[in-house]
Amino acid sequence: PIELAPLRAAAPFPLGVCAQVSHIDDPEWARLAATHFSQLTPEWEMKMEYIVQPDGTFRFDRADRLAAFARTNRMRLYCTTLIWYAQRPEGFETLDEDRVSFGRAYDNYITAVVGRYRGQAVGWDVVNEAVAEDGEGWRQSLWASRLGDFDHMRRAFDVARAADPDAVLFLNDYNLESIPRKLDTFQRLVDRLLSAGVPVTGLGCQSHIDASLPPGAYTRTLEALARFGLPIHVSELDVSLVRAGRGPRLEERQAALYAEAMEAFMALPAHQRFAFTLWGLRDKDSWLKRENARDAPLLFDDFGQAKPAAAGLAQAL
Ligand code: XIL
Repeated sequence: PIELAPLRAAAPFPLGVCAQVSHIDDPEWARLAATHFSQLTPEWEMKMEYIVQPDGTFRFDRADRLAAFARTNRMRLYCTTLIWYAQRPEGFETLDEDRVSFGRAYDNYITAVVGRYRGQAVGWDVVNEAVAEDGEGWRQSLWASRLGDFDHMRRAFDVARAADPDAVLFLNDYNLESIPRKLDTFQRLVDRLLSAGVPVTGLGCQSHIDASLPPGAYTRTLEALARFGLPIHVSELDVSLVRAGRGPRLEERQAALYAEAMEAFMALPAHQRFAFTLWGLRDKDSWLKRENARDAPLLFDDFGQAKPAAAGLAQAL
């Protein structure tokens, strides 16, 4: 077995992991997470489709439990996500299309959720996945169609800023390392938001990568993002084996990619290293494994044993 010293003690920046309430209720998960991680991101229960009820009211029961777990285990709390095209809760869809009243409900949601965790949350994914899948322009969404392609983003950041002036506010996206056009559009969007005075104060690189990503691609992506001078969050890292196809030595390539990702992050100026977050703890906890049972994208196996991936990442610290 691979011996692994506590990662959180070795990392000179917060090391994060995501969790759902079912995870924190599992004592083995809780022990392993508290040993190695110093930041927690709710995986599901701070998203709109959990919080917003059909009648438009909000529930925070599970989000509060995750926040309490973070406090008890001396982990920072990172929150995701306020505005995401993939979330269209009934409580919003059934609102009439009038821009003023829809906008009021939108502002009210952001104000309530951000305000609730003010003082504990260190940052928020304010707008998630704004760039189109293929990198050509921006996503269509309920939010864009009701409030405007650019204005709904500007508005979300402005309202979040007012609700918590201390939280770092992120634009977060994925496939930035694998689709050059998408990275390009993301960078142009950041430019545009910043020139308009929108309070984007951090950039999130989700980093759902797969084991066939060529060496160097990830490093170049973080370097490109860092040029804005803003804090960088590696916000949802996992390395899929299944999506890479059936090539040889996939586990070694996975370990090498975890090492490269950590090296690239370590190479950033200290003040830009916001946090480095894994999208799950054990393989069996992964959203990818729920999609495909053969996948094994994380640092720890189903039994909580450190994999070569964990050793690779630890080596780079
Ligand atoms: C995923 C969670 O892992 C799932 O459990 C949930 O059902 C859907 O959301 N990009 C993101 C994350 O920004 O919020 C997603 O998380 C994974 C893809």
